[in-house]
Amino acid sequence: MSDFRPVQVRVPVLSVRHMDSYHAITVVAPSIAERFRSGQFVAVAVGGEHSSMLLRRVFSIHDVKPDFGGTVEFVFSERGNGTEWLAERRARDLLDVVGPLGRPFPLPRDPVNCALVGEEQGAAALFPLANTLRRRGCRVDFALGGATADRVLGTAQARRLGETVSVATGDGSAGTRGGVLDLVSRLIETSRTEVVYASAPVPVLRSVAAVAEKYDIPAQVRVEEAMACGTGVCMGCVVPVVGEDGITRMARACVDGPVFRAERLRFGDVGTIPFDALGAPGWKSAVEDTAVREAG
Ligand SMILES: Cc1cc2nc3c(=O)[nH]c(=O)nc-3n(C[C@H](O)[C@H](O)[C@H](O)COP(=O)(O)OP(=O)(O)OC[C@H]3O[C@@H](n4cnc5c(N)ncnc54)[C@H](O)[C@@H]3O)c2cc1C
Ligand code: FES
Repeated sequence: MSDFRPVQVRVPVLSVRHMDSYHAITVVAPSIAERFRSGQFVAVAVGGEHSSMLLRRVFSIHDVKPDFGGTVEFVFSERGNGTEWLAERRARDLLDVVGPLGRPFPLPRDPVNCALVGEEQGAAALFPLANTLRRRGCRVDFALGGATADRVLGTAQARRLGETVSVATGDGSAGTRGGVLDLVSRLIETSRTEVVYASAPVPVLRSVAAVAEKYDIPAQVRVEEAMACGTGVCMGCVVPVVGEDGITRMARACVDGPVFRAERLRFGDVGTIPFDALGAPGWKSAVEDTAVREAG
C-alpha cells in the first residue's frame, strides 16, 4: 500500500529559474514526489542552520517530474526575509523540506468539464491538477488573474494544458482589465463547466463560490491561510467550516485543507471564531438556545 505520510528531507536544489516576477526552485526529492497529490504543498526551512527564522515557509507544489528519481518544483515571489533568502539559493544548495502536506483536490469520478480559477501565486497549485484531470479525460479551462501581466502565473503552461485560457489583470496589461472573477461566469457558460476548482485569496474564492452556487455547480476552493507549523499542531491556520451535521468547527487549513468544499466554508467569518463554532464561548448557549426555542 502507498505511504502518503509527509516526510522531512534535506534535498539538493536542482535548478533555480525566473518565471515572470516569480522564482521557481526545483529540488530532487523522490520521497515527496512519489507521495504527492494535486493541491498539496511543502514547508521549507529558511535562513540556514543558525537562522532566527524558526518557522518554515509553505509553498504550493507547482510541478512534479520523474527526473532524478523524482523532482518537486515550487514557485514564489519575494515577500519578506524567508523568500528573500530562498531567492538567493543556487543549484546544489541543500534545502530542508517537509512534504507533501495538506489535503489534495478531490477528483471527479467521470470525465467532466472543469474550470480552474487561479489568482497570482494561488494558480501554482492548479497545474498538476490540470495534468491529472486531463489524464482522466476531463476538459480543462483556465481563468487566471493577477495585478499585472507578470503576476499572472503560468499562462504559457495553461495554454498547453487547457482547452481555453482567459486572463484578467488589474491594470489591463494582459487580457481583460479587472479581476479573475469577471471571467468566471462567462467561462462557466461557454465551456459548460461542471466542476470549479479555485485557488486564490479568500475574497476571490468567496465570489467564485457564489458564482458556482448560482450555476448550481460544485466548487472546491483552496485557501492559503498563513501557516506556522503546517502540520496541524499549532492551530494557527484555522477556518470555520460547516460539517455534514450542520455544526461549525474550526478546521486547520494545513491538515483538514487547504482544499475545502466551497459551500462548507464560512467565507464571511474567515479570520474569526464564530460564536456558534464548536468549542467557541457561545457554542453551548447556542445549543441551549435552540433547545429552549424548541421546548417553547
Ligand atoms: C498552503 C499555502 C500555499 C502557499 N503557496 C505559495 C506559493 O506557491 N508561492 C508563494 O509565493 N507563496 C505561497 N504561500 C504564501 C507563503 O507561504 C508566504 O508568502 C511566505 O510566508 C512568505 O515568507 P517570507 O518570510 O518571505 O515573508 P513573511 O515574513 O512570512 O511575510 C511577509 C508578508 O507576507 C504576508 N504573508 C505571509 N503569508 C501569507 C499568506 N499565506 N497570504 C497572504 N499574505 C501572507 C505576511 O503577513 C507579511 O506581511 C502559500 C501559503 C500557504 C498557506
Ligand atoms: S499551521 Fe499549525 S495547525 Fe495549521
